[in-house]
Amino acid sequence: MNFLPISINLENKKILIVGGGNVAYQKVKNIYPFCKNITVLAPQISDKLKTDFTVNSITEPYNNKHLSGFFIVYACTNNSLVNEQVFLQCEELNILCNRSDNASVSHFHSQAIIESDDLIVSINSKHTEVEKTKQLKHELATYLHERDQRIHEQGTQKGKVYLVGFGPGNPDLLTRKGEKLLYQADVIFYDDLLDGNFLERFTAEKIYVGKRRGNHSKVQNQINDVLYQAAAQGKMVVRLKGGDPLIFGRGSEERYYLEKLGIQVEIIPGISSAIAAAAYADIPLTHRGIASSVALGTAHAKNSFKILESDTSVYYMGADNIIQIAAQYLEKGYNPDYPVAIVRNVSLSNQEIIKTNITEIANGNIKVESPIISIFGNTVNYKQIVNDNQ
Ligand SMILES: C[S@@+](CC[C@H](N)C(=O)[O-])C[C@H]1O[C@@H](n2cnc3c(N)ncnc32)[C@H](O)[C@@H]1O
Repeated sequence: MNFLPISINLENKKILIVGGGNVAYQKVKNIYPFCKNITVLAPQISDKLKTDFTVNSITEPYNNKHLSGFFIVYACTNNSLVNEQVFLQCEELNILCNRSDNASVSHFHSQAIIESDDLIVSINSKHTEVEKTKQLKHELATYLHERDQRIHEQGTQKGKVYLVGFGPGNPDLLTRKGEKLLYQADVIFYDDLLDGNFLERFTAEKIYVGKRRGNHSKVQNQINDVLYQAAAQGKMVVRLKGGDPLIFGRGSEERYYLEKLGIQVEIIPGISSAIAAAAYADIPLTHRGIASSVALGTAHAKNSFKILESDTSVYYMGADNIIQIAAQYLEKGYNPDYPVAIVRNVSLSNQEIIKTNITEIANGNIKVESPIISIFGNTVNYKQIVNDNQ
């Protein structure tokens, strides 16, 4: 049977509920926000129903004379013969009837309804996917509630800049707060390592301020200035940054600049690529008995590079200098087998993980391209160490 989902105008229409127990109570509860002209007919009507809702009550057994004048009837008794009788007599009188005990023969279904500030969403389950309907109702209710909150909050966030950590590139690693702000933003400034397609779902204006794609001219002070200009116009600005804004992300520079000009700034942390690399490559940055300290550093500067003195050392931006870094470890007297993991495109579909050692790298046997995270330390081989010690 096919059911057409429609919304019915109930102005000046009367609804009859046949039955006075729990099922009738639930029906009245669902209908009440849309129609106040409800009559409940049953030999006994629960006190709760009469207390919670203002309805017309007829405390009599059902009789077809009761149907006259009603637009819609719900048969909600606990007696299927009575429900059937109500349904058949409604059919004769061309009155729309829903049987609570047999939705498939009814003239219409009751739908799962979710109301937000400006929307009413109803879900029709076809009565084959009741659990899925409940789940979807829950998900939509949560989504709409958050959407309403976002709309309410939006007014208070004008002229403010949010420095939002996007994580290492996979949108699934963006925080809920970050995503919420992207929905609210008037303008989003984004740069490299961010998936432009993902941003399409947000209605904000999107402005690329990365340093690739021939856009070398956007140096940091120009980025600071465009953020300032947007916020000064009263816009709600999201500045998206790869990983975490405060780890080699220049987030503090942008914050300092903007706050000095009187612009409110809030930083939303993101999952730094080093933390994600460790997780995806199955390398603990610390492990009891193997490594109790971890340091994060940049391997960007070829000439001034110094190795980090830590049990585990993680380098950002090291693709061009990885041979020199490994050579310095050898010069410093580290074991030639000292383990290294290189993780490229962390969290993305083209992620690559190489586990090797400083000699292999120093000999030029490992070829890498940016963006990479390199992890130096014994925890790269923690499983082997744990196995050997058992
Ligand atoms: C300017 S730093 C930004 C770091 C960022 N704020 C963070 O917390 O991850 C750029 C460097 O981060 C690392 N990086 C960022 N995303 C990466 C990814 N998906 N895979 C590997 N390395 C990444 C690389 O070392 C890259 O050269």
